[in-house]
Amino acid sequence: PNTELVCYRVAQEALTNVARHAGAEKVRLDLHVTGEHLTLCVADDGKGGVVADGAGIKGMRERALLVDATLSIASPPGEGTELRLVVPLRVESSAR
Ligand SMILES: Nc1ncnc2c1ncn2[C@@H]1O[C@H](COP(=O)(O)OP(=O)(O)OP(=O)(O)O)[C@@H](O)[C@H]1O
Ligand SMILES: [Mg+2]
Repeated sequence: PNTELVCYRVAQEALTNVARHAGAEKVRLDLHVTGEHLTLCVADDGKGGVVADGAGIKGMRERALLVDATLSIASPPGEGTELRLVVPLRVESSAR
């Protein structure tokens, strides 16, 4: 449930940012599981050039920490923005 909530909120903020800031023509949202990780990727073809974290990006980073995930943003000026959240999936049988 925590992973679901974090993915939902990160996708929501990332898509809101694309709509508000990117000036994009296209955005792609991709969610997939490979081995022991779940990856959420939101990529747009807008203006790129994200430099500093505002409240929205800080909030995404804080949420990522809750599920031991890493959040990275690649945003070269003029070449769009790609945000990637990688969440480690816990093994069901782990003794917790
Ligand atoms: N997809 C994007 N394309 C271009 N610029 C972006 C994108 N996402 C974020 N930015 C830039 O990064 C800044 C920080 O984003 P952040 O979400 O932290 O704050 P915000 O959207 O301005 O405000 P809020 O706190 O309401 O989310 C934005 O103000 C914008 O300049
Ligand atoms: Mg924002």
